[in-house]
Amino acid sequence: MVSSVVVIAGVGNGSGTGGAAARLFAKEGYTVALISRGSESLNVLASSINTSGGKAESFPVDAYGSDEITAAFSSIEARFPSPEYAITAAIFNAGHGVWKPFLQVTPEDVRESSKVNIEASFAFSRAAILAFQKNDPLPTTGAKGTLIFTGATASLRGNVVTSAFAAGKFALRALSQSLAKEFGKEDIHVAHGESADMSKGIATNNTRGDRNTPPSGPVENPKPHSLLSPESIATSYLYLVNQDRSSWTWELDLRPAHEKW
Ligand SMILES: *[C@@H]1O[C@H](CO)[C@@H](O)[C@H](O)[C@H]1NC(C)=O
Ligand SMILES: *[C@@H]1O[C@H](CO)[C@@H](O)[C@H](O)[C@H]1NC(C)=O
Ligand SMILES: *[C@@H]1O[C@H](CO)[C@@H](O)[C@H](O)[C@H]1NC(C)=O
Repeated sequence: MVSSVVVIAGVGNGSGTGGAAARLFAKEGYTVALISRGSESLNVLASSINTSGGKAESFPVDAYGSDEITAAFSSIEARFPSPEYAITAAIFNAGHGVWKPFLQVTPEDVRESSKVNIEASFAFSRAAILAFQKNDPLPTTGAKGTLIFTGATASLRGNVVTSAFAAGKFALRALSQSLAKEFGKEDIHVAHGESADMSKGIATNNTRGDRNTPPSGPVENPKPHSLLSPESIATSYLYLVNQDRSSWTWELDLRPAHEKW
């Protein structure tokens, strides 16, 4: 039997959306290939998935750039070759956030936002689509593969400190729309899941891409139901992957019930 592989880029220390998706997809029987910076926390996540009966392997990168992502994907395909394995899902959850008034934004901020949010996502998409094209449509959904991008409120609108961040996130959403149009007819599902101001409390500063307001420090006592849970986002990602091709979602806007925005 062919084993389905999900590739997830951007898992931080495993406490956010990437980590939750890794755990959920592993529980569903996927082999999980993790791409992220910081091999230590990647290995912690992979071995905790392994010890709970799943199968995960880490593919650390030094930086999110085109060459690094392409090389990581090659290692994944070498480690999990067809016909025993097929990459059927890929989640781009990496992001680079900059929250500064415009006149404080440096050329380096702009370069880094472009590199992670645009250059890396293009390389990730290219590798994922080339892998999906080798698959037969899955009998269950009719899809050859599903590519999901993690967006943010800043994918939809700019705000006072988000010029560099929103520019990167708008670009990611534009890529997602373009790929959904171009590859839908090849039975490749492309979806963008933007989520609200998820978790100011648990977000790491540079890897989370979901704040539209300046970091205001940990939320000590968040209002109940005003923060998205990474596990719920992961459940929605699994739902996207399981949709059949007669009714694909291409943009999913997740908002906590009690969000103020
Ligand atoms: C998890 O298990 C796989 C084999 O199923 C192995 O290749 C991998 O190295 C393990 N990862 C860790 C971090 O233990
Ligand atoms: C992950 O990082 C966040 C934010 O820096 C922190 O609150 C959390 O405790 C960390 N979790 C782990 C498992 O290290
Ligand atoms: C996040 O940024 C704040 C403000 O710039 C800083 O005080 C804090 O140490 C940073 N946290 C992490 C985990 O890098």
